[in-house]
Amino acid sequence: MKEHLIGIIGCGAMGAGIAQVAAVAGHPVVVYDNNAAALQKAQEKLSATLHKLQDKGKLAHAQAVLSRVSFSSQLDALSGSFLVVEAIVEQLAIKKEVFASLEHKVSETCILATNTSSLSVTAIAAACHRPERVIGLHFFNPPPLMALVEVVPALQTHPELVDTSKELMQAWGKIPVVAKDTPGFIVNRVARPFYGEALRIYEEGIADIATIDWAMTTLGGFRMGPFTLMDYIGHDVNYVVTESVFQSFFCDPRYKPSFSQKRLLEAGWLGRKSGRGFYDYSEGQPLPEPLRDEVLGQKIVDRVLAMLINEAVDAKYLGIATATDLELAMTRGVNYPKGLLAWCNEWGPGNVLHLLDTLYSNYGEDRYRASVALRKTIG
Ligand code: NAI
Repeated sequence: MKEHLIGIIGCGAMGAGIAQVAAVAGHPVVVYDNNAAALQKAQEKLSATLHKLQDKGKLAHAQAVLSRVSFSSQLDALSGSFLVVEAIVEQLAIKKEVFASLEHKVSETCILATNTSSLSVTAIAAACHRPERVIGLHFFNPPPLMALVEVVPALQTHPELVDTSKELMQAWGKIPVVAKDTPGFIVNRVARPFYGEALRIYEEGIADIATIDWAMTTLGGFRMGPFTLMDYIGHDVNYVVTESVFQSFFCDPRYKPSFSQKRLLEAGWLGRKSGRGFYDYSEGQPLPEPLRDEVLGQKIVDRVLAMLINEAVDAKYLGIATATDLELAMTRGVNYPKGLLAWCNEWGPGNVLHLLDTLYSNYGEDRYRASVALRKTIG
C-alpha cells in the first residue's frame, strides 16, 4: 500500500501531523490548504521537525521523507489519491462543501476520511454522492506521537472500509479502535468525568485543585491531574469539546460543562499556552501545595473513578465499542494506568454501583445515574 498517494486537506496542527505520519510510513503525500501562508508555514515546520528527528537518530533520512510530501493550494492536486484525510476547521457546513467538491476531483474508489472530533461522520458523508466511501479517522494531537486512531464508520459506510482503514492505520504504526458514530466517539465520551467530576468536587469546595490533582496522580495513578491536564490541553479546546458533547447528547446532565472552566475561557486564561489557567505559570510563581490528606484523597479518586467506570460500562453496553477497543482507547489513547473495565472488576462492580447510588441519592441528580449494565452485572 506504500505506493498509494495520500491526500490531506488542511495543514494545521492535525493535517500537518497526519501528513508526517503517512510520509514517514512511506507514502507519497499531497497536502492541500486554501491558505497559502499556512501551507508555507507547514512546509517549513515539517522540514524542521523531520531534521530534528534525524539529528536525534529517530529517523534515517529526513530529506527522503520530505521529498515524498508536496504542498498545494489547488484541490485538483488530490486527484490521484487512494485516501484523502480532511482536517480543516470544525464546521459542518464547510466540511460538507469541501467533501462535495472533493468527490468530483478524485477517483470513484478513493476513500474519503474526516478527522472530525465532534461532528457526525454520517452528516458529513451525506454531502457525497457515494457516502459509502466516507469514514471517520480520528487522530489524536499530536498525530506523530499519539498511537491511537478511532475508526468511525458512518451509517452509510461500506463495512469493508472499516477493515481497510484498520489495516492502513496499523501499517502507519497506529493502534486503530472502532467506534460507533456517536458524540465524542470513545475517548472524548468516556474521559469526560475525569474533568467534569473533578471540576464538580472543586466547585463544591470539597478540595482545592492542587489536592485533587495530587489525589488523582499519587493515589489514582494517573499521569497528570485533571486541572494540570485541562491547563495543558487548553480551555479553548477542552471546554469546547465538553460543551459540544453536552449539546450533542441533548443536554444529558452527565456531561454538563462547568462555569469555573467557562469563565477561564472567557478571561482568556487558556492554560499553559497563555501563562495562566487553573494554575498561574508566571515565572517565579510557586504552584499551590496539596493537602496530602489520604482519606480525602481516596474519596476524590473513588468518586471520579466510579464516574469514569460508569461511562465505560455504559459505552460497552450501548455498543459504542468492543470491550477490547474501549480498554485500548483509554490506556493507549489517554494513557490511563488501567483499562476502566478491568478496574471495575478489580474494585468490584457492586462497590462502584454502591458509590454511584449513594451519590445519586445524596444529590438527586440524573448525572449520577448508574448504567443499567452495572446493575445487571451484579444481578
Ligand atoms: P487548525 O485550525 O490548526 O487547522 C485547520 C487548517 O485548515 C488551517 O490551515 C486552515 O487554513 C485550513 N482550512 C480551513 N478551511 C479550509 C477549507 N475550506 N479548505 C481548505 N483548507 C481549509 O485545526 P486543527 O486543530 O488541525 O483541527 C483540524 C480538524 O481536526 C478539526 O476537524 C478538529 O476538530 C480535528 N481534531 C483536532 C484535534 C486537536 O487537538 N487540535 C484533535 C483531533 C481532531
